[in-house]
Amino acid sequence: MSSTVQPFDELARDYDAEFSRTVLGGLLRSRTQDEMLRLFKPGDHLLEINCGTGEDAAFLAQRGIGITATDSSAEMIESARRKIGRLALQDRVEIKHCRFDDLDSVLGDHRRFDGLISNFGGLNCSTHLETLAASLSLRVKAGGYLFLCIMGRFVPWEWFDLGCRGKFARVWQRLRGKTFWRGMEISYFTPGTVIDCFSPYCDPTRVNGLGFLLPPTCAKFLVSRHPGLLHILNHWEKRLESLPFIPCLSDHFMLVLKKK
Ligand SMILES: C[S@@+](CC[C@H](N)C(=O)[O-])C[C@H]1O[C@@H](n2cnc3c(N)ncnc32)[C@H](O)[C@@H]1O
Repeated sequence: MSSTVQPFDELARDYDAEFSRTVLGGLLRSRTQDEMLRLFKPGDHLLEINCGTGEDAAFLAQRGIGITATDSSAEMIESARRKIGRLALQDRVEIKHCRFDDLDSVLGDHRRFDGLISNFGGLNCSTHLETLAASLSLRVKAGGYLFLCIMGRFVPWEWFDLGCRGKFARVWQRLRGKTFWRGMEISYFTPGTVIDCFSPYCDPTRVNGLGFLLPPTCAKFLVSRHPGLLHILNHWEKRLESLPFIPCLSDHFMLVLKKK
């Protein structure tokens, strides 16, 4: 991969402290990991795209699941390598510095996996999801699952938080489905759009909302001051997460697809 600095490089060092290790980040991640454990079993080998600092790769490997973890950010990959080394999980986790559009050149054409995961919005960095859906689906064996956690377009919580702070332009950017962040184009999707892109290759089996009652990380006033309240909101959110309108009105949605 080229050595160009990626926007996520600058976040890598503090990513776990500022997201994964916070009360809110921990609650959100454990919901996604519970879902992964429903789909994958020890002995499976998964492809992870946009693995970040390797939190999920480490979690799954500790439960007997093998992972090929990939990411476009050299710093994120370095952080994942250090974590996997520290936990002595190298025999279960293979780490590759690779954009999700370049998997063929790094993995070769023929390699297939028992499943695929993409957690916390990596796919929102894709500007051509239809093409990517075809190449990612090809990587999974028939009957295998794809777990995708993607940022949605319509987030009432964020309208409220940003609205209170007068940041109406940001509300509008997400509503119209596109924004630029550190020079990178970010697309916001509805569950229906993603399901349509994957529909020639995969059937949807489950879609759950994540961050419907729980606030987005930008709502710092609530996130830092009321950790107890976050647990209560999480409890109720888990009960409501699969109701029909919830995934479309959540910060992220978790979509499970089954390869045809
Ligand atoms: C919000 S982070 C999520 C990281 C991780 N999945 C997690 O659960 O913490 C998004 C990740 O997507 C990666 N990413 C963005 N565009 C990418 C691309 N084109 N190919 C591969 N990874 C990409 C970034 O480097 C970053 O690590």
